[in-house]
Amino acid sequence: MVFGCDYNPEQWGSDVWRDDVRLMRDAGIGLVALNIFGWSNIQPREGEFDFADLDEIIDLLHANNIRVNLGTGTASAPPWLSTAHPEILPMAEDGTTRYPGGRQAWCPSSPVFREYALHLVEAVASRYGAHPAVALWHVSNELGCHNALCYDDDSAVAFRTWLRHRYDTIDALNEAWGTSFWSQRYGAWDEILPPRAALSLRNPAQRLDFQRFSSDELLDYYRSECAVIRRHSAAPVTTNFMVTAHIRNLDYWTWVDDVDLVANDHYLDHRLPNPTAELSFAADLTRGLAKGEPWLLMESSAGAVNWQPHNLPKQPGEMTRNSVSHIARGADGVCFFQWRASPQGAEKFHSALIPHAGTDSEVWRETVALGRLMTDLAEVAGTRVESHVAILFSWEAWWAADGEARPSQAVNYLQQVHAVYSALRELGVTVDVVSPSASLDGYRLAVVPSLHLVSDDDATRLTSWVEAGGHAVVTFNSGIVDDCDRVRLGGYPGAFRDMLGVRVEEFVPVLPGDVVHLDSGATAGLWTERLTLTTADAISRYTDGPVPGLPAVTRNMFGAGEARYIATALDETALREQFRVALVEANVAIRALGGSGAVEVVRRASADRSYVFVINNSSEEVTIPVVGHDLVTKVDISQFLRVPAGAARIVRETAA
Ligand code: GLA
Repeated sequence: MVFGCDYNPEQWGSDVWRDDVRLMRDAGIGLVALNIFGWSNIQPREGEFDFADLDEIIDLLHANNIRVNLGTGTASAPPWLSTAHPEILPMAEDGTTRYPGGRQAWCPSSPVFREYALHLVEAVASRYGAHPAVALWHVSNELGCHNALCYDDDSAVAFRTWLRHRYDTIDALNEAWGTSFWSQRYGAWDEILPPRAALSLRNPAQRLDFQRFSSDELLDYYRSECAVIRRHSAAPVTTNFMVTAHIRNLDYWTWVDDVDLVANDHYLDHRLPNPTAELSFAADLTRGLAKGEPWLLMESSAGAVNWQPHNLPKQPGEMTRNSVSHIARGADGVCFFQWRASPQGAEKFHSALIPHAGTDSEVWRETVALGRLMTDLAEVAGTRVESHVAILFSWEAWWAADGEARPSQAVNYLQQVHAVYSALRELGVTVDVVSPSASLDGYRLAVVPSLHLVSDDDATRLTSWVEAGGHAVVTFNSGIVDDCDRVRLGGYPGAFRDMLGVRVEEFVPVLPGDVVHLDSGATAGLWTERLTLTTADAISRYTDGPVPGLPAVTRNMFGAGEARYIATALDETALREQFRVALVEANVAIRALGGSGAVEVVRRASADRSYVFVINNSSEEVTIPVVGHDLVTKVDISQFLRVPAGAARIVRETAA
């Protein structure tokens, strides 16, 4: 069980380092990320390297039994490089340059940047590749956080190469992009540009392919750094993903086979209605990326971040709860950004394990206590989370669904995914979040929220699984386009029409704020449809709004299985009720472990042991039926575990 942090010793004089390492030992820090933004320090000028400080720090950590998660240092180019080669700078979609002065100011397709960056990686990997302290390699940092979509000429050249691989002929590209529309037919590859800002709506298929290209381009860049590292080191290699609510430019399903360990960065987002539900979702999705194997929380915060409009510190106990929630959902370690709060720079108001106030602080005391807990949780490592329910999640569908021109700008993919996830979380059900291409074997219920884009293969996999006896719940705006963003004709939702037993002639959005009523007593909004039943039954119908009398929720028996369709954005209670019924029919226990929403209860198990995690995010004490030994309080639990408001508990269950 890893307990770690980002450490930026270059921001401090060497007099602080020894203190830092002593305090790290006090806190039980076992893994330290170094050199993440080190480039201008270790290569102060072209052709000149200076590793003296990094050597000293790595040796100091090693002497104290602290392992190193070594950054390649390429995340942010030094000023000498962008001055000598301004052509590496990224370009925004409106053609303006993004200048240095922040971070990540490089174009992912720039051959010049890549040459310099790989030269640095060569120097770092050859120097430290065999160092016994180096336990993990950290390629760059949050690839694509700021520069994922670059529209400059280097990107145009690379985009064309990518398109040639995908389509082979220009005719095939014209066909895929539907370029007969608005006189966009291309005669030669050179005529194609990144989808730069235009006067009107842009070609959606071109934009979708540009998203795919941009994700692939950074993956290719990641691979190029990996290849250099692997020539010098046998240590595992990874990079920190951003599975979070506010970044969506990389299709991580296509990345996971290239990382030796899935690592994610997660920060609570107080712009969302339910930040801890989003944390749970992100952690479950990260476990999906790890294919159920343990993963690592590479960054999280001890308190406030600095990049939201209002940056809330954590309440006492909240750092621990958030950490335990990630572990409950499959993390075998939690790390923090960062060790010591910076006095200067853009992140000077970002929290750290040692705040500006120093070690005489609640944050530090909680850090030390969390470090002890992490040691006590060593036995949990390697166990797996149990789930019978899968949510199908897709970055491609996200890109397509939230494009420029669509039935309603008020409908947002991630919000719809979060809505169904929250309904299941309220019902105390642990879910896996998986790719639409994942096998559904072993699941009892598949949930398909607003999967606007779905490939033929993925649609067939789901429908065959239902036909063979699976249960599915599909929500509106699913199955509408194919992987070229081409509408599936004959009535929506084309890909799932037969499985759902419905046919939709038109989408009828509801204006934001307007409410429609259903005969079940539910309310709904945002979206309705002119829907007719082919083989399905109506479970409820609208009593008012734009399509009174038409079905809002349906159920279809399909082969040996069952497929339910929710054609509108139901209110929270009604959505939960739909899932309650679907879960019962799919034979999935509700609140099997006693959890519900703010009270998260998750089990991790292996063949020989199991643990129940309880994270009480509520303001009331809760009682959970479980028998075993509490690893937090060291108390045996004979029947019921009492968890005070704001506390987290982990019980090693006594075998039945
Ligand atoms: C990201 C970065 C870190 C830091 C944090 C702040 O996760 O990787 O360098 O900027 O955000 O929240």
